[in-house]
Amino acid sequence: MRVLVTGGAGFIGSHVAESLLRRGDSVSIIDNFNTFYDPKLKQKNIDEMRKVGDVRLIRGDLMDEGMRQSALQDCDAVIHLAAWAGVRPSIEMPVLYVEQNLLMPTLLVESMRKAGIRKLVWASSSSVYGENSNPPFAEDANILAPVSPYAATKIGGEALAAAFAHLYELDITALRFFTVYGPRQRPEMAIHKFARLMMQNRAIPRFGDGSTSRDYTYIDDIVGGVVAALDHLGGYQVYNLGESDRITLSELIELIGEALGVQPQIDALPVQPGDVSHTNADISRAKKHLNYDPQVPIAEGIRRFAAWFKTRPELWQEI
Ligand SMILES: NC(=O)c1ccc[n+]([C@@H]2O[C@H](COP(=O)([O-])OP(=O)(O)OC[C@H]3O[C@@H](n4cnc5c(N)ncnc54)[C@H](O)[C@@H]3O)[C@@H](O)[C@H]2O)c1
Repeated sequence: MRVLVTGGAGFIGSHVAESLLRRGDSVSIIDNFNTFYDPKLKQKNIDEMRKVGDVRLIRGDLMDEGMRQSALQDCDAVIHLAAWAGVRPSIEMPVLYVEQNLLMPTLLVESMRKAGIRKLVWASSSSVYGENSNPPFAEDANILAPVSPYAATKIGGEALAAAFAHLYELDITALRFFTVYGPRQRPEMAIHKFARLMMQNRAIPRFGDGSTSRDYTYIDDIVGGVVAALDHLGGYQVYNLGESDRITLSELIELIGEALGVQPQIDALPVQPGDVSHTNADISRAKKHLNYDPQVPIAEGIRRFAAWFKTRPELWQEI
């Protein structure tokens, strides 16, 4: 298959692209190397990907029509991962998030229709569940109580995807990722940031009393789910992709400390607005329809992350 991965220089996109290359798909990437975090890390992801196979890289902004047309040339399906991720910055910059996470995919689908491309996998997020649902979250839960602009853009994105699939008979699957981690994880995300602070012998800012909990999903398991979704497209579908387990923030910090051989110091701070208390995925739908079968429990995943992190001393500095 000829697949365009948007945001393919980023954390999840670069792993997805590598996995597609390994199985023999032809892969194009569009990424504007934005400054949400250091673009040099994205370039490094591309350099590593090029050791796996040939990839067509379009360095450009998906908001630009010419760039979209060029990226969509000779392509059968799109995996749309380009976005502004991160909950907390969305509170400071809601307009940017609406532009990048709602307008951009709308423009992308319009360009896909014009180019006759009908297959799309679209990144949503566990944050759509807000504080409204009881864990484990199932896909048919009420998702109309978001607690951040980021979550609201992901809910809006899903609604747009459903409308486009209905109107134009497109095959679109929205995937609700539950906090993804592993090598190349974004540097502002909890596990990566905590590891960096521990290597600097600095305290971890722990928001709340440490009892909030998350379902953390190892990158290889997410990639397995994304590729399975690509292979099972049909009409409009929504799936949770998580590990279906959860640990508290305090337990997570302990695990990272053990894996790095560092005794964590804690700076206890008030709960942050926009953060949800708990996430936990009900993955029965993805298991049934995608044969999704996550393999890496958190303790093993943290060991793998720490092993990778120790090989990248440039990441231990403030970036
Ligand atoms: N990482 C997680 O835990 C997680 C959880 C839930 C959902 N998601 C979603 O998964 C997707 C990928 O997340 P990630 O963690 O890999 O983030 P990332 O920031 O590492 O990757 C996104 C990439 O998109 C690119 N990009 C952004 N705007 C663009 C534009 N206008 N034109 C071209 N490229 C653009 C960025 O440069 C970046 O390389 C996002 O949609 C995110 O919201 C991620």
